[in-house]
Amino acid sequence: MKILFLDQSGKPGGAELCLIDIAKPYSDRALVGLFADGDFKTLLQQHKIPVEVLAKQPIKVQKQSNLFQILASFIQLVPLLIKVTKIARKYDLIYANTQKALVIGALASFLAHRPLVYHLHDILSLEHFSSINLRVAVTLANIFASLVITNSQASQTAFVQAGGKAELTEIVYNGFDSKKYQISDVEIQKLQQKLELQDKFVIGHFSRLAPWKGQHILIAALAQCPPQVTAILVGDALFGEQDYVQELHQQVAKLGLENRVKFLGFRADIPQLMSACNLVTHTSTAPEPFGRVIVEAMLCGTPIVAAKAGGAMELVEHGVNGFLTTPGEPQELAKVINTCLEDIEITATIADNARNMARQRFEIATINQQIAQLLFSGKIDLSNTEVVDFEDAQD
Ligand code: UDP
Ligand code: GLC
Repeated sequence: MKILFLDQSGKPGGAELCLIDIAKPYSDRALVGLFADGDFKTLLQQHKIPVEVLAKQPIKVQKQSNLFQILASFIQLVPLLIKVTKIARKYDLIYANTQKALVIGALASFLAHRPLVYHLHDILSLEHFSSINLRVAVTLANIFASLVITNSQASQTAFVQAGGKAELTEIVYNGFDSKKYQISDVEIQKLQQKLELQDKFVIGHFSRLAPWKGQHILIAALAQCPPQVTAILVGDALFGEQDYVQELHQQVAKLGLENRVKFLGFRADIPQLMSACNLVTHTSTAPEPFGRVIVEAMLCGTPIVAAKAGGAMELVEHGVNGFLTTPGEPQELAKVINTCLEDIEITATIADNARNMARQRFEIATINQQIAQLLFSGKIDLSNTEVVDFEDAQD
């Protein structure tokens, strides 16, 4: 099956990293069309997945855009739509991986007579989107999509609550290659030395720097922990959140934590860094749609404490394979950090449970098989396809 994947971003966020794994089995007969240039394109090329930047300028609509801003951007979308429609005719299926990709993908699917799959990586609620954005996404998905793959039960529920048709949806979690998360002790020690983290209790936070990812919650919690507790903040402001970055630095200075917080920026060695941590924290203040970082920490065998909302609650069972704390509550987080510091053995058992569970639930080969089964299921009208080879797609 020849698939045209569409994604609006040039930057490697979680939805984009997930797409790399999904597109890979189809790479000899697929194209990833991006609406912006950037490091994501380079990553796709490194994975030998055909990629083309289809838009000359990034689309200006934001998650919180109003009706006027959306209409104004429509003119900008026309050349892109024409281009995508033309390309779509050479493919059997359009697979939209983000909201703007859904808008273009839906219209192109109509014009080119190709079925549309929408992979929903977001919780479609007013906490994350403007109401007009929500309505556009749900309406287009309802009318044009043959299948809506949601990255968690939480994303599925929000889609239906926003008016989305439940019968279109299927939940598929992100998949991971667990081998990539097995890091040798030698490698871990080298990295700890390089970052001057030996003899410290290291907490890692692995998210892009954005207010709702809640790095400020970790910094506030750190102030309530003993001095050997140190934090590394891994990730960059991918979508222009420079004010928040400044606020974080100011907060660190105000609390006198300069020697205990390191900003490492965007890194490609996540498994190594997570393995070098004693604990990984996830502190999103709004419900996390899925939370790749939670599963990645589990696969590294590093204990995880996550914010109790959204998809995170489908991944973590408190006290069994990790810890959950109320979103936006630094005091509660500090308490869990201090427990992990003291009850080393119990925490190690919990991390072991998590690793075993994550290997069983999220192995990429199984997840890709689930997706292939859905793509070849009766839900999608493939009467325009050239070759339908289910075995091929599972490779
Ligand atoms: N990540 C990365 N480098 C960084 C910070 C994060 O590669 O410096 C990766 C991280 O390992 C995870 C993804 O970015 O796979 C973030 O996905 P998640 O689902 O946690 O959150 P999102 O940013 O997509 O909302
Ligand atoms: C989005 C979500 C994140 C999820 C990722 C992959 O970026 O914010 O929670 O893990 O997509 O599905």
